[in-house]
Amino acid sequence: MALISHESSVTSPLSAPQAPGFTKPHAVRPLVSAHDVSRQWGKGSNAQLGVDRVDLNIGSGELAAIVGPSGSGKSTLGALIAGIDRPTSGSLVVDGERIDQLSTDQLARWRGRNVGIVFQDFHLLPTLSAAENVELAITLSGRSVGRSKRRAETREALSSVGLADKVRRLPNELSGGEQQRVAIARAVVNRPRLIVADEPTGSLDQAAGSTVFELLAGLRRDGTTVVFITHDRALAAEADRRIEMLDGSVSRHSAGGVDVRIPLTADTLVAGVQ
Ligand SMILES: Nc1ncnc2c1ncn2[C@@H]1O[C@H](COP(=O)(O)OP(=O)(O)OP(=O)(O)O)[C@@H](O)[C@H]1O
Ligand SMILES: [Mg+2]
Repeated sequence: MALISHESSVTSPLSAPQAPGFTKPHAVRPLVSAHDVSRQWGKGSNAQLGVDRVDLNIGSGELAAIVGPSGSGKSTLGALIAGIDRPTSGSLVVDGERIDQLSTDQLARWRGRNVGIVFQDFHLLPTLSAAENVELAITLSGRSVGRSKRRAETREALSSVGLADKVRRLPNELSGGEQQRVAIARAVVNRPRLIVADEPTGSLDQAAGSTVFELLAGLRRDGTTVVFITHDRALAAEADRRIEMLDGSVSRHSAGGVDVRIPLTADTLVAGVQ
């Protein structure tokens, strides 16, 4: 039976073994802390609410799955956490930064340095080779990296996804699974603390999808936090943390199979990121 854990920090399934039936709040540093976060478009009777007063923490180095029916707000929440979009209210702390308070330019710079993003349909530039797509991400990150180091980092990222022999291929000369692996190489090449992947396996068959999932899940070894949006319940079951969305709200949140309720206040929010 799942227990309810009331906590201001994060319960980590990666923590030490616990006595049966006892959930010990474990002080894993949250990488993501959302407090009362909403995203609304339009006003009055035309208002459309994508995310509705969400509170959540995601621990550093965790794989967190966001699941829920179509239109429940998964992509909207993922875009907020990734700094692609900004909440209309609430506070959102990622890796110690109040990203809801950054200007559009600051947010873009922060995102380039701190977040890797993977989409369902890869978003590779069609006229650039696999290596050029990855290398471009280094250039756009604003890191000052010389040409030979840029090439070496690109090669290493593509090797890490098993594509060392396909670096010169254009996207249309690669399978869907390979294209997604290039997208993962591009997302990890700047060694971000956070990867946000929105249905990265959604266009792939089961074998290619499993490879992509394993690559993303393996990033935890380096302490990377991965937010993984998926419709695939089997993959979501493998995550450390599972966040279920319904009508823009979190309808259920569990970590290591244990239900989590996080009564965030301004105090616990600050305490949670120290
Ligand atoms: N730019 C926008 N303007 C107005 N409403 C939007 C906008 N983007 C999303 N929405 C609305 O926000 C809600 C959540 O959309 P979202 O794309 O986050 O759902 P989702 O859970 O990712 O769905 P799916 O599984 O189909 O990808 C939907 O009702 C959607 O219509
Ligand atoms: Mg979506």
